[in-house]
Amino acid sequence: MSQRTPGAPTVEEVRNLLRAVIDPELGSNIEDLGMVDTVTIADGIITIGVKLTIRGCPLRSQIQKDIKSRLEVHPWVQKVKIDWGEMTADERSEVMTKARWNARENAAPTAVPERTRVLAVASGKGGVGKSSVTVNLAAALAARGKTVGVLDADIWGFSVPRMLNMPDRLEAQMVEGRDKPAIIPNERHIGDGLLKVVSTGMLVEDEGTALMWRGLMLTKAVEQFLNDVHWGDIDFLMIDMPPGTGDVQMGLARMLPRTDLLIVTTPAVSAQKVAIRAADMARRSFLRVAGVIENMSAFTCEHGEEYPLFGTGGGQALADEIGVELLGQVPIEPTVAAGGDAGEPVSITGLGAAAAVFTAIADRIIAETPAFDDMADCSARGADVSVNVRRGGTQQ
Ligand SMILES: Nc1ncnc2c1ncn2[C@@H]1O[C@H](COP(=O)(O)OP(=O)(O)OP(=O)(O)O)[C@@H](O)[C@H]1O
Ligand SMILES: [Mg+2]
Repeated sequence: MSQRTPGAPTVEEVRNLLRAVIDPELGSNIEDLGMVDTVTIADGIITIGVKLTIRGCPLRSQIQKDIKSRLEVHPWVQKVKIDWGEMTADERSEVMTKARWNARENAAPTAVPERTRVLAVASGKGGVGKSSVTVNLAAALAARGKTVGVLDADIWGFSVPRMLNMPDRLEAQMVEGRDKPAIIPNERHIGDGLLKVVSTGMLVEDEGTALMWRGLMLTKAVEQFLNDVHWGDIDFLMIDMPPGTGDVQMGLARMLPRTDLLIVTTPAVSAQKVAIRAADMARRSFLRVAGVIENMSAFTCEHGEEYPLFGTGGGQALADEIGVELLGQVPIEPTVAAGGDAGEPVSITGLGAAAAVFTAIADRIIAETPAFDDMADCSARGADVSVNVRRGGTQQ
């Protein structure tokens, strides 16, 4: 321990000054994020031990410059030294939780109710079954009596209206408490539940028109759907993400940072590698991955023989890689594709192995999402509600 010399700042004062040093990537100050490990004050020299999330952090020189400029203004200080360290996996996990909280606190309000669990279905590449998973899970949740918003965020390649047989155009209406007309989602009742669906496919006449609108209002469509749709009292919001990891994901992270990602992959190891990109994007934008869903798993023929057409093990390998659960393996079944074409998700019929998997995943999601009534007095309503994320994995 250092002796305090006259005029020297206290450790508390130094730590307080360090609250002005922001980690640009994590969006919060290094002191409150717990990155300041040690503060030593002696002989005109302040030595700060800083733990970076990763040793090779590209922002290191920026952080160093900021620390020095904040502390060197103190009249007593002659020199500021920095000892760089690296966080353990647990520390990193804790910092990411704090950063997530921070992002949530600072997010602009959207029209999505606070209590709605938001699940975005994403993948690193196209055609792996995001839209099929989205509509089947949404329908399975509705069949369980839930009210489920479905946002088709695949602006150019929308497929949700077809897959749910909901082609009607969206309308706008004045709604109490709003100063401009709100978009009213199209509704479809399933069992005791309800789907409330918006898609750019419900805004435009045909795909030709969609092309014409490209670059105009459609670029803002997701933002508009989050801000201007009158969702009402929805339990879940399922978002069908476009293929790849682009602007839509970043925008969603900014506007609805409480979004949890469900990452879809095929059993092929190549697809799994691509899907890691989606997980990586999630990490960078602080979105949490709620789990992995393997789609197009082994096809079982009528004689009971299994054909793993797209390989095996990709889903589990990806789940292990990002440290989350594999929530289910949806087999290849002609009924999934036929249901998509007919606008009748197979999960509604409940027939076949694929439907059973979708239903099981929906049950699991319901089980891990506290009901609103349970949370009425909970001050930490915006807190992590997903229980299936294993902390300390690589999702830091
Ligand atoms: N488990 C399955 N069994 C059989 N066919 C499936 C299965 N999952 C998806 N399909 C079919 O595969 C095709 C691609 O699925 P889908 O459109 O859901 O993928 P996507 O990831 O949303 O694609 P995109 O990236 O183009 O948005 C569709 O024709 C769909 O019906
Ligand atoms: Mg799709």
